[in-house]
Amino acid sequence: MAFLNEDKRTHYCTSITEADIGTRVTVNGWCAKQRNLGGLIFIDLRDRSGIIQLAFDENTARDVFETAAGVRSEYVLTASGTVRSRGADVNENRATGKIEIYVDKIKVLCTAETTPFEIVDDKNIRNDLRMQFRYLDLRRPTMTENVKLRSEITKLTLDYFHDNGFLYIETPDLIRPTPEGARDYLVPSRVYPGKFYALPQSPQLYKQLLMYAGFDRYIQLARCFRDEDLRTDRQPEFTQIDLEMSFSTEEDIMEINEGFLKYLFRKLFGIEMTEKFPRMTWREAMERYGSDKPDIRFGFELCDLTELLRGTEFRVFAGAIAAGGSVRAINVKGGAKFSRREIDGLADFVKSYRAKGLAWAKKSGGEVSSSYAKFLTEAENDAIYEKMGFEDGDLILIVADKNSVVFDSLGALRRECAKMLGLLDPKEFKFLWVTEFPLFEYSEEDGRFYAMHHPFTAPMEEDIPLFDTDPGAMRARAYDIVLNGTELGGGSIRISTPEMQTLVFSKLGIGEEEANAKFGFLMEALKYGIPPHGGLAFGFDRLVALLLGYEDIREIIPFPKAQNASEPMSKCPSEADAKALDELGLAIKKHD
Ligand code: AMO
Ligand code: AMP
Repeated sequence: MAFLNEDKRTHYCTSITEADIGTRVTVNGWCAKQRNLGGLIFIDLRDRSGIIQLAFDENTARDVFETAAGVRSEYVLTASGTVRSRGADVNENRATGKIEIYVDKIKVLCTAETTPFEIVDDKNIRNDLRMQFRYLDLRRPTMTENVKLRSEITKLTLDYFHDNGFLYIETPDLIRPTPEGARDYLVPSRVYPGKFYALPQSPQLYKQLLMYAGFDRYIQLARCFRDEDLRTDRQPEFTQIDLEMSFSTEEDIMEINEGFLKYLFRKLFGIEMTEKFPRMTWREAMERYGSDKPDIRFGFELCDLTELLRGTEFRVFAGAIAAGGSVRAINVKGGAKFSRREIDGLADFVKSYRAKGLAWAKKSGGEVSSSYAKFLTEAENDAIYEKMGFEDGDLILIVADKNSVVFDSLGALRRECAKMLGLLDPKEFKFLWVTEFPLFEYSEEDGRFYAMHHPFTAPMEEDIPLFDTDPGAMRARAYDIVLNGTELGGGSIRISTPEMQTLVFSKLGIGEEEANAKFGFLMEALKYGIPPHGGLAFGFDRLVALLLGYEDIREIIPFPKAQNASEPMSKCPSEADAKALDELGLAIKKHD
């Protein structure tokens, strides 16, 4: 049926309140539910704001009543009528629970087939169906709300940075690859057969060039593309709040971004965060939490037992120490209540972080039981208990291995234990700045250094002499902002001279020739007067997800990719047609 001017809404469903009782309104939306009680019909009408009840009874005009009787779930309707009280029949769970619209005019604008799942929140709907029929999934009130809140956070972000003198500037999506550590998505060029653009992993080089150009403060909600293995907090395309500032130090950049996060909490939740966010060097984060993105909502800090066990005869610990590794432990307060089975589960858990085993000791009702105590002397055992403040109810978990394995496994294990003990409250927000990251990361597999952040990050002044002697020990002017164990964002002060850029490239195995071929424009630009500058990028999807209490960023992305990087709704990626491939000068190799 045609939609006419007179059919247009006067109100969204939930903008009607008790103050409107007695007025005539028109609403547009979907039938969430129709109940026909013979002489009475109720329709729950849903739009993006929520639900209001439409009512029809024996005094309703026959044709209107009959139309209402024919309405099924997800039919699209326009209805007009008078707002009235529901009297004693109140629905406490609904904003509009005390009122209804007594309808005198209704039109079915479109019918609908039975949907593959019911459009309600409290149902366990199969994930593949949610992905395939995403437009229906998005009709569910929680999903609608998530998308609306994301829009609100977008607005607050733009307001804040605009008010602080940032210019919103768009950077291109068809570019030369910018290394951020993941694989590129390539786009073939038709005009230059055999040549490719890359989709940006981030606007890194362009935002630096904007500083060279003199724009001083830049912000963009930038789409980024990275072909990497997906996890709950990782999508192949995602959004960054990307920014860059000239004539600034780490301090300025951290301050403006800390201000931004506090602004969001104030505007969204009415929460005043007055304390400065804590800061920790990368080294301290690793030593205390085994992670460069520690969750500081709970304790269970790592304790180094290496010195205390240096002379031990227990081969597992002695072997790790002899090989230059370490023996470290956490004390899980309240963990003594874990069953043997649960502890075995934890041993399996650390194996996925390459640990070879997990040694444990627990104290319950004064009794100590342990997987390893019998292999140590009494003095060694006592020394461990004393160092770790071992008390009734405690569970000590020990990993012996090379340091990287010990940190990774205990870092993950402390969070797993906190999860099992119900200590991870998504409504508790603990921010942390991690600073002084290593400049380089050595890959034993490839026998070379990689940039820990990216190759445009400046080293700390006092570490510059280490370039020739110990590059692995150099620290970067880089910082991450961490929230509840998730890396929310990261950035750095950038290199601003051609000499330093050449030096860093050379340590990364990028010789002058390659540097000129790949980054010639940057090397050239660095000659013409570059301000000191730096910046940061937040993972916008991660930020929104954590603020709304989700671990999985797909809950706040309208059209995400599935875990296997496909999009089940439109079924992409898909084959290109032969003519398009031909024009691009491409042929597909047969895969076995
Ligand atoms: P970085 O690579 O650390 O830095 O990225 C910044 C933030 O982006 C988010 N993020 C992701 N979110 C969802 N899916 C992904 N696949 C994904 N990958 C990263 C994270 C991360 O902290 N150009 C630099 C920033 C700078 O130096 O200014 C950069 O991109 O939350
Ligand atoms: P085993 O003699 O191999 O049975 O090991 C004795 C105890 O040490 C068991 O509790 C093992 O789980 C534990 N263990 C084995 N390897 C390691 C390791 N690398 N780190 C910590 N504990 C380990």
